[in-house]
Amino acid sequence: KKKVLVLTGGGDCPGLNAVIRGIVKRAAQTEDWEVIGSIQSFDGVLREPTEIMELTEKRVSGIHFQGGTILGTTNKGGPLAWPVKENDGTWSFIDRSDEMIRKLKHMGVEAVISIGGDGSQRISQALFEKGLNVIGVPKTIDNDLSATDYTFGYQTAVQIATEAVDRLVTTAASHNRVIILEVMGRDAGWIALSSALAGGAEVCLIPEIPYDLNKVLGVINKRFKDGKGHVIIVIAEGAKPVEGDVLAQESDEVGRANLKLGGVADKLLKDLKAAGCDADMRETVLGHLQRGGVPIAFDRILATQFGVKAMELALEGEFGKMVAYQHPSIVAVPFLEAISKYNIIKPDSSLVKTARGIGMCLGN
Ligand code: F6P
Repeated sequence: KKKVLVLTGGGDCPGLNAVIRGIVKRAAQTEDWEVIGSIQSFDGVLREPTEIMELTEKRVSGIHFQGGTILGTTNKGGPLAWPVKENDGTWSFIDRSDEMIRKLKHMGVEAVISIGGDGSQRISQALFEKGLNVIGVPKTIDNDLSATDYTFGYQTAVQIATEAVDRLVTTAASHNRVIILEVMGRDAGWIALSSALAGGAEVCLIPEIPYDLNKVLGVINKRFKDGKGHVIIVIAEGAKPVEGDVLAQESDEVGRANLKLGGVADKLLKDLKAAGCDADMRETVLGHLQRGGVPIAFDRILATQFGVKAMELALEGEFGKMVAYQHPSIVAVPFLEAISKYNIIKPDSSLVKTARGIGMCLGN
């Protein structure tokens, strides 16, 4: 039988198991393909002995609503930068990609399906250029990949963040408080703006629109003056003020901010206090709750569609491409197109216009 190897890389996200199940069930419709999985991204292939899981229909039965990934994942290292501890305790990184490609050939692997975010798609492109038959599946709660209308996992994260806003509204209203909710999203504000809209927050601060602290303070003062008594502020972890003290953030190799959980919520609360805000304020950092647990129906369906399409590309011998959702179709786009730019919120987009249309403060 021909072998397709599946792996999940980068941070986990709801729906990964539904993709794996989709791949295995589509392969099972053929006579001549079998599916195996590499544990913790490509690491399972590179480890000695290898860590590979047989993925039969029985093994994937009922996993579509389980959170996480049955294959495990990692956002460190990988075949292009494998970490090696030196004698002096420092780490260096070596390229093991050629060795890995040889190993995969030896194992009889005809095709690799890599389920991951932008970092994984970049690794896939590099491996494809070296001759590996790779297909990509876009995954991230951040929804920041440009070639696809949505990544799976994003809508589940929005649902969880919305539930958080709903809960914070009732406690904030009971105590006449300002509550700041920090959500994930890296350099994109999709989770923040969507949950702020769905939950009815008064203020939403996103990376795409640098915020003016005085505008936020103005909303708080007006709400309390008008007797409305509470304010919910949703802030994306990558949000930054127009000027002044920007949080010290390092950038990774592709120039994206490395963010610290709670950093922006904390900064905003302290800055508001320093600017004279005397409201009773609290902060909540939603963190990894946005990534764990069961995917909502939308993400299970999208993930299954992605899994089936990825397996079909393998059957057709179409490599170097990432599956994508471009309404109403599931399509395949070259990796190079998929990784050429990020999908961030445009300040003149309909979501921004709707938020402004209901009077939500976006910090400018
Ligand atoms: O990319 C997904 C994501 O959850 C981001 O929203 C967040 O910035 C980052 O991963 C957190 O990564 P880690 O789980 O490694 O802390």
